[in-house]
Amino acid sequence: MPSLREAALARRSAPKVTDAAPDDATILSLLDAAARVADHASLAPWRIIALRGDARARLGTALAAAAGFDGAHAERLAAKPLRAPLLLAIVAVTGEHPKVPVWEQEAVAAGVAHVLSLLLDEAGWGVMWRSGPHTRHPLVAEAHGLAANERLMGWLYVGGLPEGTRAQRSTDGIAAARFTTST
Ligand SMILES: Cc1cc2nc3c(=O)[nH]c(=O)nc-3n(C[C@H](O)[C@H](O)[C@H](O)COP(=O)(O)O)c2cc1C
Repeated sequence: MPSLREAALARRSAPKVTDAAPDDATILSLLDAAARVADHASLAPWRIIALRGDARARLGTALAAAAGFDGAHAERLAAKPLRAPLLLAIVAVTGEHPKVPVWEQEAVAAGVAHVLSLLLDEAGWGVMWRSGPHTRHPLVAEAHGLAANERLMGWLYVGGLPEGTRAQRSTDGIAAARFTTST
């Protein structure tokens, strides 16, 4: 098993995946670990909704309606959630709190999604976090049954890795360019 550092260095998004998908029990066991991210006041301000089968098509219909598209444009947009057998909708569940502003709560939800994505990648699944201009449209929220204090952060598109797509990731030096020390 690779170290956490090795897994993080090796992670890469998979734009194309096969029809294989992890089951709910697998997702839950990885989520147990992802849920350990730092969380101010332990609010657990997130939830994950797994969309499989026709639920993906219903999301596609909602996206096309949110965009106000019809005809071929609507069909193209509606087909996007069908690119993977499993979509994990990342939901920030936020509220007013005396010590924890909403941005901190969204940071926790994003942290859970990043760790979950890394764990899925390490387990050999193809993953890509996707969003789009209609992610927070009311019709899209309705398709997920979101409450008024819940906001989508996009979807992890998850599936099997096609043969031969696991190329080595090159380090690109971005960390050095984004890191400074103050004394
Ligand atoms: C919140 C969020 C939303 C994203 N939405 C999209 C998207 O809609 N389309 C896309 O091509 N990439 C999107 N990305 C970026 C990809 O997930 C991925 O990181 C990018 O293609 C680079 O590939 P890499 O992860 O292998 O470096 C998003 C990333 C995040 C964190």
